[in-house]
Amino acid sequence: MNSELIFYINGKKIVERHADPEEMLLAYLRRKVGLTGTKYGCGGGGCGACTVMVSKYDPIEETVIHRAVNACLQPVCSLHGAAVVTVEGIGSTKTKLHPVQERIAKAHGSQCGFCTPGMVMSMYTLLRNKPQPTIEDIRESLGGNLCRCTGYRPIIDGFKTFCEAQTCCQNDEINGKCCMEDDQFHNKESDISEELFNTDDFLPLDPTQDLIFPPELLLLAKQDRGEQLCFQGERVKWISPADLKDLIRLKADYPNAPLLVGNTTLGPKMNLKGTIHPVVIYGGDIPELRAIKWKKNSGVTIGAGCNLSVLKETLLKGIQDLGPEKSRIYQALVETLQCLAGKQIRNMATIGGNILSANPKYDLSSILAAAQCTLHIVSYDGARELNLSEEFFTGFGKTALRSDEILFAIDIPHTGPWEFLSTFRQAQRREFAFSIVNAGMKVVFRPDSNIVKNLDIFYGGVGATLVQARQTCKKLMGRPWDEKLLAEGIQLLEEEITMPSTVPGGQEEYRKILVLSFFFKFYMQVLLELKEKEVDVTGLSLDYLSALKPFKNEVPQGNHSFQLVSETQSISDPVGRPNVHQAALQQATGEAVYYDDIPSVKGELFVFMVTSTRAHAKIISIDASVALAMPGVVTFISAQDVPGQNRRLWFNNPEEVFAEEEVICVGQIIGAIVAENREQAKRAADQVAITYQDIQPVFFTIEEAIQHQSFFEPKRKLERGNVEEGLEKADYILEGEMYMGGQEHFYMETQGLIAIPSGEAGEMDLYVASQHAAYTQEVVGITLGIDSNKITCHVKRLGGGFGGKVMKIATLSAITATAAYKTGRAVRCALERGDDMLITSGRHPFLGKYKVGYMNDGTIVAADITYYSNGGCSLDESSFIMEKALLHMDNGYKIPHLRGRGLVCKTYLPSYTAFRGFGGPQGLTIIESVLHEVAVKCGLPAHQVRDINMYKDEMCYTHHKQLFSPRDMVRCWTECLEKSDYHQRQLYIQQFNAHNHWKKRGICIVPQKFGIGFSKGFYNQGAALVSIYKDGSVLVSHGGTEMGQGINTKAVQIASRILKVPMSTIHIKETCTGNVPNAAPSAASFGTDAVGMAVKNACEKLMGRLEPLITVHPQYTWKQLVVEAYCQKISLSATGFFMGPHTSIDWEKSEGPAYYYFTFGACCSEVEIDCLTGDHKNIRTDIVMDVGRSINPALDVGQVEGGFVQGIGLYTIEELHFSPEGVLLTRGPSQYKIPALCDVPPQLNVHLLSDAENPHAIYSSKGIGEPPVFFGCTLFFAIKEAIAAARRERGLSDSFSLSSPATAEKIRMACEDCFTRMVPEDKRVKSKPWAINV
Ligand SMILES: Cc1cc2nc3c(=O)[nH]c(=O)nc-3n(C[C@H](O)[C@H](O)[C@H](O)COP(=O)(O)OP(=O)(O)OC[C@H]3O[C@@H](n4cnc5c(N)ncnc54)[C@H](O)[C@@H]3O)c2cc1C
Ligand code: FES
Ligand code: FES
Repeated sequence: MNSELIFYINGKKIVERHADPEEMLLAYLRRKVGLTGTKYGCGGGGCGACTVMVSKYDPIEETVIHRAVNACLQPVCSLHGAAVVTVEGIGSTKTKLHPVQERIAKAHGSQCGFCTPGMVMSMYTLLRNKPQPTIEDIRESLGGNLCRCTGYRPIIDGFKTFCEAQTCCQNDEINGKCCMEDDQFHNKESDISEELFNTDDFLPLDPTQDLIFPPELLLLAKQDRGEQLCFQGERVKWISPADLKDLIRLKADYPNAPLLVGNTTLGPKMNLKGTIHPVVIYGGDIPELRAIKWKKNSGVTIGAGCNLSVLKETLLKGIQDLGPEKSRIYQALVETLQCLAGKQIRNMATIGGNILSANPKYDLSSILAAAQCTLHIVSYDGARELNLSEEFFTGFGKTALRSDEILFAIDIPHTGPWEFLSTFRQAQRREFAFSIVNAGMKVVFRPDSNIVKNLDIFYGGVGATLVQARQTCKKLMGRPWDEKLLAEGIQLLEEEITMPSTVPGGQEEYRKILVLSFFFKFYMQVLLELKEKEVDVTGLSLDYLSALKPFKNEVPQGNHSFQLVSETQSISDPVGRPNVHQAALQQATGEAVYYDDIPSVKGELFVFMVTSTRAHAKIISIDASVALAMPGVVTFISAQDVPGQNRRLWFNNPEEVFAEEEVICVGQIIGAIVAENREQAKRAADQVAITYQDIQPVFFTIEEAIQHQSFFEPKRKLERGNVEEGLEKADYILEGEMYMGGQEHFYMETQGLIAIPSGEAGEMDLYVASQHAAYTQEVVGITLGIDSNKITCHVKRLGGGFGGKVMKIATLSAITATAAYKTGRAVRCALERGDDMLITSGRHPFLGKYKVGYMNDGTIVAADITYYSNGGCSLDESSFIMEKALLHMDNGYKIPHLRGRGLVCKTYLPSYTAFRGFGGPQGLTIIESVLHEVAVKCGLPAHQVRDINMYKDEMCYTHHKQLFSPRDMVRCWTECLEKSDYHQRQLYIQQFNAHNHWKKRGICIVPQKFGIGFSKGFYNQGAALVSIYKDGSVLVSHGGTEMGQGINTKAVQIASRILKVPMSTIHIKETCTGNVPNAAPSAASFGTDAVGMAVKNACEKLMGRLEPLITVHPQYTWKQLVVEAYCQKISLSATGFFMGPHTSIDWEKSEGPAYYYFTFGACCSEVEIDCLTGDHKNIRTDIVMDVGRSINPALDVGQVEGGFVQGIGLYTIEELHFSPEGVLLTRGPSQYKIPALCDVPPQLNVHLLSDAENPHAIYSSKGIGEPPVFFGCTLFFAIKEAIAAARRERGLSDSFSLSSPATAEKIRMACEDCFTRMVPEDKRVKSKPWAINV
């Protein structure tokens, strides 16, 4: 037995004698080796932030295989003989960049940078395997990497430069015209540029730069190991068997030990759910388990340990060799494998593991069962074969395999000429998401006929195990494949496939309808194939064939245009140019430091939160005694340990740091365990026993809060005109409501910090991921009872913030600081993804109830809207968010009589908080919903109703009597109509819809007017400190925080312009409360406005001091000038300050200049829906945005695209589920889907409005961070149009309610048809739902 683990990391040999079976590569890299470039984003394979390349010699292929894997699921013990390459191993800014690193950076593909190393490693691995990839290869490789900032397009743009072939917009299928042939994208105006980056100076791909596979490992791999590898950890023993025989013996000796292979099912359970297996047997090193054997004319035997990427490659080759007829099963499997998980997971996950996990949401079993595959099973007692059938699965996670048995291989047969097989899956997101329902269906016909000889239908996701529609199939055998069979089949399935109301995951009606719809699709597919085989079939309507075409996954590409700087601008002046994000190269090389990358400080401890499991209860007792006795635990802290005040104060609204007597939501922090390391802290936190006494009332939804009249103060109202009079004058009155669900920030970097007490005078330094360092400082000071001057907050950068790191981080900081105070040691807090989602909450759900008066021509004369938001259990920023919703309720429309009331509901959910847009998107969407419905009622195109109601006079007043010019909004609208070819495409869509029964398209265009700045006027201020050193280098400090939006880059551009020095001379180190005090949060799209002006002010002061010297010494270089100034005792440091506008609003009078100015834009999107499944595809989006004179067009386009893609999530796929007990069920990327690459429209065109000015902000620019999120609503309304088209065709009203997000479930249920009617309302289950709409 050996216990020496030998592997390489970035070319360096590691001999690990104390490998911990519970340790994953990610933690090992980050904490033991100090390689922090690889990031933690979720710990469950769901985000790709931890991607690394693992290379191993494969004795079967006799070559070295390079695979991108998720380090968070790769056990260190599995790495014997492997070479690991991380982002640090491929290039660095100190030595040489790898072209992948350079191109993602220079193409503006890195904003916050947290996803960047993972993206780089996915692409790097692809290039190692295929130096000239196709665009499809790139799409496939990046499918398992999430980015919350960029919207993916710039990443693709950077990486596609590695492709040989020039790629187009893939628009050929859409309107028959490729963009590369289309004149409209080639701008003729000379001062407009479409080039955001230049490829000329890109480093060439040089494979000699790559690390070679270590020869020592090659030798090691070729030797017969001959003995077990064994590692004993604190709780788990790991055994890597010597060979197959040894494995079989071990499984007999340890029948309860799981056979771990890819670790993609076991890993997430161990990492996230705390499952422990005292012994684990590793099967990944047994070549026989990965063997593949093609059998002449009968099928293929796939080793159970074959990973899904290899499986796919094998099958693709088989398809090529065998031709279409014999390979129908393989084609179906490949189709599924293409969207099953992401590339990294497919590289790890095995076919055996997929089957034996016995999870009905996993896709392969239903196909393999329909294909009648045989399982080869081995054990110490011998071998046997089993059919993969319904009976094989004996319960959730259970199979007929004995615990001492091993699945050795799977036989997958060829198909015969009269055998047809199809698979279906529908998921929350088309790729990288577990299926909601999957199915495998096979029919065999009597030769040359349409008479069914055999039929097999299997469903996954409709019960605890795989379900066979046995009765249905039996009854349909011997029947001709015709409409009668279809009708009866549907009826039989409806009766046979039943789901209990308590089915985990809910959605029972939708799932039932998918069952029927999938069968219908299968029927149509087979019918078509029979026709192709010249069998006489009837009932094949061409319009119905649209049911068959799956949506094609494409990569986002697009056109951009922005105005060039004037020809007279100095070449060395960077303002207005698309400069690369200042830290992009550091981010792409993994050198950029985020709070959790800071090496641990001597004696550092870790704090883990203990949270409430009840929604509303009295805390009877807290017993931490068991936890305190656990290894490594140092202390438990709760309210009693707070030295100062146990509260976080926000505009006179106190919120408890630790719940003291009563809890008011699940997830509220009650205490925290402090231990030597994070694993110990986590395990101990689980053992803190809290007893509660439930209190009534307890409710969670807006509707319930209305019933209980549970509202926070203040309630707000805005009114213009006389609504009652207006309503009376109107031709028609419309009443309705619109609900918008909440949204999780899902910044890729979870919240956290390190608190380091200095040990002197109560001083403490916090390295914290905060958007509002000054507030964090203040709250920590109050909690500790220490003055702010002793608390210093440092913010280097954030891995995304989006408003989520303003408030809650202050509480986490106060708790961590309390732990540091109590122990006198440094304490780190890094929330796990699930806890982050549970504790910190997100965007407010909103409900708008409206009464509108409108005229025949669509003119709206009066609207009375009451907005309700779900504020959760405490006020946080909810009332300001509601105010912003009200202030945006007019959007770009001049509705003469307009009234909005805003009520924040107090419920027993975690407190909702700021999120990019800050209530704006909700306020805007509800008025857009009103316009949409009025258009429907008037029978007019929605764009016409929008147009007719738009502000168009030269100067207009908003509903809060703020004067503005809508000129640039109207310009955006007109240009957007033009650039998107709106009218032409609308006609095309009508034709498309007329010819496709099951697929429908919709298009929507909206304008936008978005207020910039804080309506709390005092926040509109900025400060900076600029220092020039004797060597001429410049250090800029400012109060904003860099979270990807590029505030530092813009600040450097501004400083460079004023000081007339190159950007490379200027550095921004961090945001620090010690340098710039009392800074406002980086929020409200106001960061650059405030900070930019302050930096400008400071630089101008410095230049004012230097100018006399310049006059005297015009020939001096900058350095000489600086030295001269120093010698003349001229201060080379200056503070800058910007006193922004005194925005305010008088709520009593409904008036006031709430905003500094308005950012305008317009957006047009087209979508296609599948009426049978509810799936949808975003086809094309065009955005025209007015950002004034952009300081940096690349960053601004990045903000537009990134914000829009967050909007895609908000309005179409991101759905939070709460249990009826108020427990958040969606706590990670497995359950909560943010947009992935597949969700971005293949054509995403962004144009920055030219000749736009803004006298109010720095260099005539405009704030842009928040507005684009709202544009996601164009997809929502386009979907609604598409559904309406389907409904009209089916003779239904096109006025129907649809709440946001328009998920697949909602789309399907709104497309009422014969299938939905089979599950009628009154038959639908009414018992306790699995999840509630809050
Ligand atoms: C982020 C993510 C997304 C995913 N998305 C999808 C998806 O969309 N569709 C889908 O179908 N699946 C999906 N999966 C699941 C994935 O396909 C399975 O987890 C994987 O196939 C399991 O294989 P494994 O080798 O990793 O199993 P392991 O985790 O190593 O083992 C799983 C179980 O199988 C047993 N086992 C494995 N091999 C054998 C064997 N040869 N003999 C006996 N017992 C064995 C183990 O003992 C264990 O109980 C996803 C997983 C993740 C993490
Ligand atoms: S951290 Fe590994 S995939 Fe998210
Ligand atoms: S840049 Fe991708 S997550 Fe921020």
